[in-house]
Amino acid sequence: MPVIVPPIKSQGIKTRLVPWIQSLVPGAKGRWVEPFLGTGVVAFNCGFPCAVLGDANPHVIRFYRQVQQGVICPDRVRTYLETEGANLRAAGGPHYNRIRDRFNRTHDPLDFLFLSRAGFNGMMRFNRRGEWNIPFCKNPNRFSKAYITKIVNQVGRAAGAIAPDWRFLHAPFAQVIDMAGAEDVIYCDPPYFGRYADYYSGWTEADEQRLFDALSATRARFLLSTWHHNAYRENDMVKRYWSRFHIATRDHFYHAGAKMQNRNAVVEALVCNFEPDPGHRAEEGRVSEAG
Ligand SMILES: C[S@@+](CC[C@H](N)C(=O)[O-])C[C@H]1O[C@@H](n2cnc3c(N)ncnc32)[C@H](O)[C@@H]1O
Repeated sequence: MPVIVPPIKSQGIKTRLVPWIQSLVPGAKGRWVEPFLGTGVVAFNCGFPCAVLGDANPHVIRFYRQVQQGVICPDRVRTYLETEGANLRAAGGPHYNRIRDRFNRTHDPLDFLFLSRAGFNGMMRFNRRGEWNIPFCKNPNRFSKAYITKIVNQVGRAAGAIAPDWRFLHAPFAQVIDMAGAEDVIYCDPPYFGRYADYYSGWTEADEQRLFDALSATRARFLLSTWHHNAYRENDMVKRYWSRFHIATRDHFYHAGAKMQNRNAVVEALVCNFEPDPGHRAEEGRVSEAG
């Protein structure tokens, strides 16, 4: 099955790691519990009929709730992007800034989608007042017909993946983890300690400790994404907290910019409180579209 690529973009998005994550997810009768939802790409590809999905960022939660309710649907996204794409073509950067200012006042989820797709390099960042803080990608022709169709299809596929029994919660991670029972599977992808941070994604060692406490106490099976090491150093958090669990690793490249030389090689880790069986689900997911 091709990987379902979400309409919202963010640095650290796990699209390319989805087949590997899927291959380690155990079979379970319970729910998929994901307290750091981000763009939703892992949840969309997990295939669980019931899920509890949380994030500290209210904008991703509002966006996907409206997709689930059908308030945001492919037709509406097409009409919106055709209108705002034409305005962007006519006015360029000042129109991007108008949408940014409107979003910062009204928190309209369609404006959130626009900014996610017209901002620099598909990045998501908020300043300390919680305002969108990514500059324009500098391409006034960003919303070409083909690009709009691609986004509209992504909204349609996300809507198809979101089941009626999925709950979207604007909540701190510990609250979401506490909701998991013995039959559930928790997937955690917290901000990586010592790396990127913004208004909704600050991450301290105290947070890592709280996450460790919550995951150590759960009766559910969990998988936790983190980084293991890169060419320069090891992730101290793995040694300090996670080494008592099972750890699977895999090479990965994060793009910190458009240029090839900005690819950052890192060894990704999946920490599990069960013995993962990579043979259990074939690693069959393919990423069918870039970004
Ligand atoms: C690395 S991103 C998740 C990326 C996601 N797996 C994807 O592929 O798109 C981490 C997410 O955790 C959220 N977050 C940060 N601190 C949090 C907290 N204390 N409680 C809940 N969510 C938090 C951020 O808003 C962000 O969406």
